[in-house]
Amino acid sequence: MNTQFNGVNVVITGATGVIGSTFVKALVEKGANVGILGRSEDKIIELQDEIDKDRKQTVGLVADVLDKESLTKAKQTYNDKFGKIAVLINGAGGNNPNATTNDEMYDATGDKTFFDLTEEGVDNVFKLNYTGTFLPSQVFGKDVVEATAGTIINISSMNAFTPLTKIPAYSGAKASVSNFTQWLSTYFAGHIRVNAIAPGFFETHQNKALLRNEDGSYSERASKILSQTPMNRFGEPEDILGTLYWLMDNEMSGFVTGIVVPVDGGFSSYAGV
Ligand SMILES: NC(=O)c1ccc[n+]([C@@H]2O[C@H](COP(=O)([O-])OP(=O)(O)OC[C@H]3O[C@@H](n4cnc5c(N)ncnc54)[C@H](O)[C@@H]3O)[C@@H](O)[C@H]2O)c1
Repeated sequence: MNTQFNGVNVVITGATGVIGSTFVKALVEKGANVGILGRSEDKIIELQDEIDKDRKQTVGLVADVLDKESLTKAKQTYNDKFGKIAVLINGAGGNNPNATTNDEMYDATGDKTFFDLTEEGVDNVFKLNYTGTFLPSQVFGKDVVEATAGTIINISSMNAFTPLTKIPAYSGAKASVSNFTQWLSTYFAGHIRVNAIAPGFFETHQNKALLRNEDGSYSERASKILSQTPMNRFGEPEDILGTLYWLMDNEMSGFVTGIVVPVDGGFSSYAGV
């Protein structure tokens, strides 16, 4: 076992998702005590059985990032097992089909244009990404600000820099996560560091419908993304780990706060020509 984060107390939201579970596995491997926060107890147990059978380094936290009461209970459960939290990783987030247009540009004859998006879908996306980062920061942040070298790491996205076609709400919501990261970093500057990671394009459950055709081949959108990514591939969740370790480690990034780090194979630097 690598001991870089031996005994460091970490809570990860969205922890059973593709990126979140990669973080959980990596941080357990590096010695951290990890709170695995998600809505499904079954998924949490499945992950624990895989990486921490005797539950020495993990605790399951069944909670919804939009429900403050469940987060408060989760904090208590974590505190009872491992003590105070030093690192919060806000990994829960995502898009919603009712806030996604079918076409990249307006076609009055098309179906699911901008005019068909639902208020409920749009609200859902803003709530999940913004409020779902805000509330855990309030609840778990109380411990983090008291920790030596406490830090909060949010997950933003490429669409926060420049909106992506089809997903106006998800783009706006992730821009708000980047903005909130800057706000929080300033507000708590004398106490903790707050940064965000903006992953480029990773194939996960939530974007499968946009990236794959029914027969499994790449969609037109996926091919377009690859053509705009100088490194010409999708990211693997493991590609994000080095940035996560760097931002978590106060010796390595102790003067770094309020930034959003792209991990994108060059996507955000390439103008397309
Ligand atoms: N996959 C990509 O290409 C990509 C790119 C940029 C940013 N992101 C962001 O990375 C983060 C992780 O996404 P992922 O790709 O692993 O997707 P994912 O869908 O596998 O993971 C998201 C997790 O959040 C959980 N979640 C959703 N609503 C929740 C709620 N109300 N309470 C608690 N948990 C909730 C989901 O159950 C899931 O486990 C998200 O914030 C996502 O927006 C992903």
